[in-house]
Amino acid sequence: MTERSFVMVKPDGVAAGLTGEIISRIERRGLRIVALHKAVMARSVAEEHYDEHRQRPFFDELVEFITSGPVVLLAVEGDGAIAVLRTMMGATDPKNAAPGTIRGDYALDVGQNIIHGSDAPGSAARELALHFADLDA
Ligand code: RTP
Ligand code: MG
Repeated sequence: MTERSFVMVKPDGVAAGLTGEIISRIERRGLRIVALHKAVMARSVAEEHYDEHRQRPFFDELVEFITSGPVVLLAVEGDGAIAVLRTMMGATDPKNAAPGTIRGDYALDVGQNIIHGSDAPGSAARELALHFADLDA
């Protein structure tokens, strides 16, 4: 089923010069970039984005990190895009991420794991509305 996901190259990924590599992997997989935007995320938007983690001990650190430099925000479309992108990203803790995945190839630290991707249709819709308000559904 064709669906859309929200993907973000996090500040560590942008700083490491991995934006092109990540976009290239997404395109070569057969997924389509629908919208793309580079920005430093406002604190309020970052807190809303990670609202589900508000009570977690790492929340402040997470918001601090995600607003620490430019990120690249992407709307990505394709057959089964949400699950396909999560598989391409690899496990949340890069130490457990398989080689060949983005986190498994480029990261080691759970707090700085290069990329975000929506984890379900509900979160994809919520995140796309938050970051791409002008995108048609
Ligand atoms: P993301 O939302 O960033 O795509 O990552 P995810 O779905 O794989 O993982 P999630 O459970 O949503 O966690 C969000 C981000 O919080 C950081 N985290 N730190 N210190 C820790 O134990 C810890 N656990 C999670 C990670 O950077 C993770 O990407
Ligand atoms: Mg998540």
